[in-house]
Amino acid sequence: MEAHRKHTVIFDTDPGVDDAMALYFALAHPDIDLIGITTTFGNVTVEQAAKNALYLCAIAGRGEIPVTQGVSQPRVKHVEAPPDFIHGADGLGNLPSRHSASNTLDPRSSAQLIVDTARQHPGKVSVVAVGPLGNLARALELEPELPALLSKVVVMGGTVFEPGNVSPVAEANIWNDPHAADLVFGAGFQLTMVGLDVTHRVILPLALFERIAKHHHHPATDVLLHAVAFYSHFYSAQHPQVAKVHGCFGHDVLAFIALTQSEIFRCESGRVRVATEGLAQGQTMLKRTLATYPQPGWENDVPETTVCMQVEADACIRQIEAVLMSDWLKTK
Ligand code: BDR
Ligand code: CA
Repeated sequence: MEAHRKHTVIFDTDPGVDDAMALYFALAHPDIDLIGITTTFGNVTVEQAAKNALYLCAIAGRGEIPVTQGVSQPRVKHVEAPPDFIHGADGLGNLPSRHSASNTLDPRSSAQLIVDTARQHPGKVSVVAVGPLGNLARALELEPELPALLSKVVVMGGTVFEPGNVSPVAEANIWNDPHAADLVFGAGFQLTMVGLDVTHRVILPLALFERIAKHHHHPATDVLLHAVAFYSHFYSAQHPQVAKVHGCFGHDVLAFIALTQSEIFRCESGRVRVATEGLAQGQTMLKRTLATYPQPGWENDVPETTVCMQVEADACIRQIEAVLMSDWLKTK
């Protein structure tokens, strides 16, 4: 039971609508102390991701949180065009205008911020990573002892049984940089994978964000509502079960819930490898038996990942509503 344990967190993100939702959940959660935001390409370019992270913090009155710009492309494959049809060309559902904001980037790379913070507070900081995993892979190159210096790493990405969302077997974050993902799964972090097996079980109605915006009457929750409305349009057109409630999948916010309320997930432990090439590129493969395989790549030195397989969806939705409805927005 992890209730009421304070989690000190670096958020590695590509905002992105569900990233924005996750960021605000983290800022609003009483048990999360968000001490840094590292950005990556993914839903948008890394420049836009960093701009969005700064903006989302500024309008929520949290402009003091360090934000860095990280990797702009995958380690090996070519960078793909950002999915503007899901998140908007600006990543936040094509905002019609922006308020002025004065916070600026921390000059370090995202990998450097992760390494510096982990060295300063050994064993105390967790990373919640909800984009392609290039920043963590670079951080491992800068500091090979990183797995021992961090507390936990929670990754939104991958899938075991649920069909993929960029191919029949691949989830977008892993597919965007499969080589980085395979390094991260093999590094020895205390790692939890929050993939489509659980994120596709949690459908968030747009009406929930309308209630939150009405309750706070604040620029931050207005921006979130605008972004979620755009994103819900995409998901409702794609998935009949989402269309029924007119809403969306919360994907990234579930990574924070897995950190703070792990008891509402059912997990399995096993070795995870990522297909880096070919038709199955980006597939996350979980070794689910005790068998010894003749194929290389599944030896005992591949560390175990805790993989979320099921979630209590209603408890998840209740938690998102309770946290975002709380009194977390101090400045208007
Ligand atoms: C993941 O891909 C991105 O589009 C979302 O922000 C989320 O991190 C879902 O597959
Ligand atoms: Ca994301």
